[in-house]
Amino acid sequence: MRSLLDILDFSTDELSSLMNRANDMISHPEFYRHVCDGRQLATLFFEPSTRTRLSFESAMLALGGRVLTVTGSDSSSMAKGESLADTARTVSCYADIIAMRHPLEGAARVAAESATIPVINAGDGGHCHPTQTLADLFTIYREKGTFENLTVGLCGDLMYGRTVHSLIAALSRYPGVNFILISPVELQIPDYVRFSLLEKGIPFEETTSLEDALPRLDILYMTRIQQERFDDHSLYLALKDSYILTPNKMTLAHPEMAILHPLPRVNEISPDIDKDPRACYFKQVYNGKMMRMALIIELLFGKSQPQPGTPPLYLNRLCSNPHCVTRFEYGLIPSFYAVKGEKDTYRCRYCDHLAET
Ligand code: NCD
Repeated sequence: MRSLLDILDFSTDELSSLMNRANDMISHPEFYRHVCDGRQLATLFFEPSTRTRLSFESAMLALGGRVLTVTGSDSSSMAKGESLADTARTVSCYADIIAMRHPLEGAARVAAESATIPVINAGDGGHCHPTQTLADLFTIYREKGTFENLTVGLCGDLMYGRTVHSLIAALSRYPGVNFILISPVELQIPDYVRFSLLEKGIPFEETTSLEDALPRLDILYMTRIQQERFDDHSLYLALKDSYILTPNKMTLAHPEMAILHPLPRVNEISPDIDKDPRACYFKQVYNGKMMRMALIIELLFGKSQPQPGTPPLYLNRLCSNPHCVTRFEYGLIPSFYAVKGEKDTYRCRYCDHLAET
């Protein structure tokens, strides 16, 4: 049985197969209308969502399956203090597959360790969001025909933007990709993402200037400043308008540059850009549904097994991330992996943040 907790759980060949299947679904939707007859998807969304939850539900319905939904922690047994492990085991008795969104980082992995059915991570706090990356990759592939040799600019909240972390991880596996990371200094990528780029020798630069980066980009991935993740609201207010893409700024961009955004947008892309043929963010929404359909089929019926990973290390340390699931889930023992090339540096198995020293 397989789950999708992190985009790196699927090899690049497996991602290509999902994209091929999504393409086939676009050409022949009639072949797929009954693939999931009699199957049930449980969507457990303990954080706000419009797109992602509806995308999963609409994907399952389009495959002939049915949907059970829980939204908000107030209306579920989480409010009574139930552990994630118990919730996952319970839901495994009702459904065939789970899509879960949760504010704690690493929550989906904890659920998958107890569930007896596949679990899809639909966003775990500020950590990662692999199915948004499926939508992003499919969009890039349809626009550019390749992932190789692209200069990709990611702009906005690179610290808390979980879609950014998953997209960087995914694109880092293709030759010739380089990143320009555009953000206020306060919202640069977390250290563990920086370490993973350094570990793999991926070229990247960090800048605060969107204008300087624009002329060099093949892809611009805009993101919202993640208001809900700030402990200090005055910092959010100071940073919220850091980047606003306007038609005037777009004159600096390459005529073929694709603009992506996971949505929802607040004000970081002016609505005047929507008519620009380079705006791809609404195509991303459609592509996300097709990729989620392909994923559900793969997890329910695919024969492939997860690759055996490196065994984690149990150290007498805590994860440094205050939002890590290991700090909240009863009975969960923190475990880590060594960071290559860095002495005495370990990353958490659940949220990837570094261990406390
Ligand atoms: C993103 C998310 O939830 O992380 N939205 C989405 O799933 N499409 C991006 C965001 O909320 O800014």
